[in-house]
Amino acid sequence: MRWPRGLDTLCFGGDYNPEQWPEETWEEDVALMRRAGVNLVNLGVFSWSALEPEPGRYTFGWLDRVLDLLHGGGVRVGLATPTASPPPWFGRAHPDALPVTSEGVGLTHGSRDTYCLSAPAYRQAALRIARALAERYADHPALALWHVHNEYATWCYCDHVAEAFRGWLSRRYGSLDAVNRAWTTAFWSQRYGAWEEIRPPRTTQYLGNPTQLLDFRRFLSAELFACFDEQRAVLRELTPDVPVTTNFVFGEWVPVDHRRWAETLDLVAIDHYPSAAGLAAAVQTAFHADLARSWAGGGPWLLMEQASSTVNTGQRLLAKAPGELARHSLSYVARGSRGAMFFQWRASRGGAEQYHAALVPHAGPDSRVFREATELGALLGRLAEVDGARVEAPVAILWDAEAWWALLGPGLPAPDLRYLDALAAAHRTLWRAGVTVDFADPEADLRGYRLVLVPSLYLTSDAASVSVRRYVEGGGHLMVWYFSGIVDVDARVRLGGYPGAFRDVLGVRSEEFHPLPPTVAVPLRVPEAGVSSVSSALGALGALGASSVSGIGEVQLTGRMWSEHIHLEGASAFASYAAGPLAGLPAVTRHGYGAGSAWYLSTGLDDADLATLLGAVLAEAGLRRVPPPPGVELVHRRSGGTRWLFALNHGDEARVVPLAGTAFAGGTDLVTAEVTGDGVTVPAGGVAIVRR
Ligand code: GLA
Repeated sequence: MRWPRGLDTLCFGGDYNPEQWPEETWEEDVALMRRAGVNLVNLGVFSWSALEPEPGRYTFGWLDRVLDLLHGGGVRVGLATPTASPPPWFGRAHPDALPVTSEGVGLTHGSRDTYCLSAPAYRQAALRIARALAERYADHPALALWHVHNEYATWCYCDHVAEAFRGWLSRRYGSLDAVNRAWTTAFWSQRYGAWEEIRPPRTTQYLGNPTQLLDFRRFLSAELFACFDEQRAVLRELTPDVPVTTNFVFGEWVPVDHRRWAETLDLVAIDHYPSAAGLAAAVQTAFHADLARSWAGGGPWLLMEQASSTVNTGQRLLAKAPGELARHSLSYVARGSRGAMFFQWRASRGGAEQYHAALVPHAGPDSRVFREATELGALLGRLAEVDGARVEAPVAILWDAEAWWALLGPGLPAPDLRYLDALAAAHRTLWRAGVTVDFADPEADLRGYRLVLVPSLYLTSDAASVSVRRYVEGGGHLMVWYFSGIVDVDARVRLGGYPGAFRDVLGVRSEEFHPLPPTVAVPLRVPEAGVSSVSSALGALGALGASSVSGIGEVQLTGRMWSEHIHLEGASAFASYAAGPLAGLPAVTRHGYGAGSAWYLSTGLDDADLATLLGAVLAEAGLRRVPPPPGVELVHRRSGGTRWLFALNHGDEARVVPLAGTAFAGGTDLVTAEVTGDGVTVPAGGVAIVRR
């Protein structure tokens, strides 16, 4: 992990695209940046056609002037290689380097990211412009960071990609026989007799081969990484002291294994745009921030892009409410981001994203957004002390991109088995309880966590199965959701009963799936033994917002979406199906294993029921918490003997966070500079950051 040169405080700024504006605007930009407290900008992300208007002819003069102006204003620069958007001349000169869809349709220049990631002409042109930039600006005093490309995520199915895919397969498997085995090509007569017969998974007649699809995503991740890595090598050769990063984007369309990439990055940076408004946006913000911190190995990372208000996706625009700009920014910072950056500095007049919000909106600086941005800049300037402090996360949710991708495959037993939905439900239940989680690598050493949650980890490697078992043996507490541990790394079912990778640690064997239609809900019965463990957990339930539980005998859980026929092989039933074809059979189980415990949830629960069940599991793991007031997000940080509590009130009423009996009574709120007593009042939509 290396940090941008010359930045010893939290970063604040955004993408700066001066090539869209006449030079007169630039001086005003720098003056406004100073006013807002901007200390870092990402420069030139989409500037290729302005820098190289025809092949090999560079026009660096304008960029020289911009860099000098920024330097004069004390603004540091993350200089981008502009390779996410080749100019029109590129596609004209190299039609073979334009992308081809899975249907075989060749795409035309006209948007961005219009290149084939494996085309030699694209790779060479990208390296050429990266080298030219590094040669020109190696010694520029404003240069703090290299920002390679933008949001690597491009797909292509052309013949260049086919060749590269075959190369990747032969390196992974060593022989065609091994590919045939891994892909189970005996099914439907798919056996390959020559490498040339293998293609990317283009549109086909009916369901495609699940392992071919999974391997194509793995290949794309590796191929995109190679694009990044070769640019990074050039930049490191010419500017060995300047850290290099790229901004991650996240979604089903992104074939990038971010955790793997992150292992080699100088700095993990993410872009994030919530797809919902209000509380749901706050919950999504926390989810992505926790992912980024986890990819960064628990260390610092940077929120490289967010929107100051509306996001222009062609959908209805979601404007941020007053105060949200700062609150979301501070949620990322609370969870480890070394600052808050935005897309973009000044709102574009034209172009495809002209209605995307910016720090300087179309209305200019006399606007709510610019005023809120300026206030945020000032506050971030006062928060440098939290930078580098550890985020306290006692619970881990296992995260694996390959498990997610496998669960996007064809031919699965229910359309609503969705990895991200399962993860998000677990994460938001703990968010409401004020419990921060890490997303841990399933193969990692999990001993530092009090509780490990495994929501629908469909694909599980042998190493992950061993690491989870060791964790429980050693005294850890575990909860595994339905449809975890079903297949191996080749997406082949683990035989002998589900969930093959976790049968022994869970003490159960499941013989048959019974997916439930959306209209069917199955009541679960919690027998006396189960009720008493719930009752012992009642103290923790309030923390999880489980309003339906008020005492012994009143626990009601309802199974949805999924059920399965389980046999107890060492575990005991905590709850059983009370109706339907599985009536009387176990639905939720608990197994004492080694020095720990392992719970299995064989059906889907809504949020309230999940909170009830997790309340019991958290209590067993010794994680009781003072419940935060509704709508208040809590995050704890610590560095040596100093602790910080971030309290973000996403609701529209002021809330008091009780501090009596905690380390924070008598602390100082860094936002108001006031000393706190037995509680801190967080105004509606506001934030308190208590230091003790
Ligand atoms: C991404 C991109 C930006 C811009 C924003 C819009 O983060 O990196 O260039 O398109 O999305 O939300």
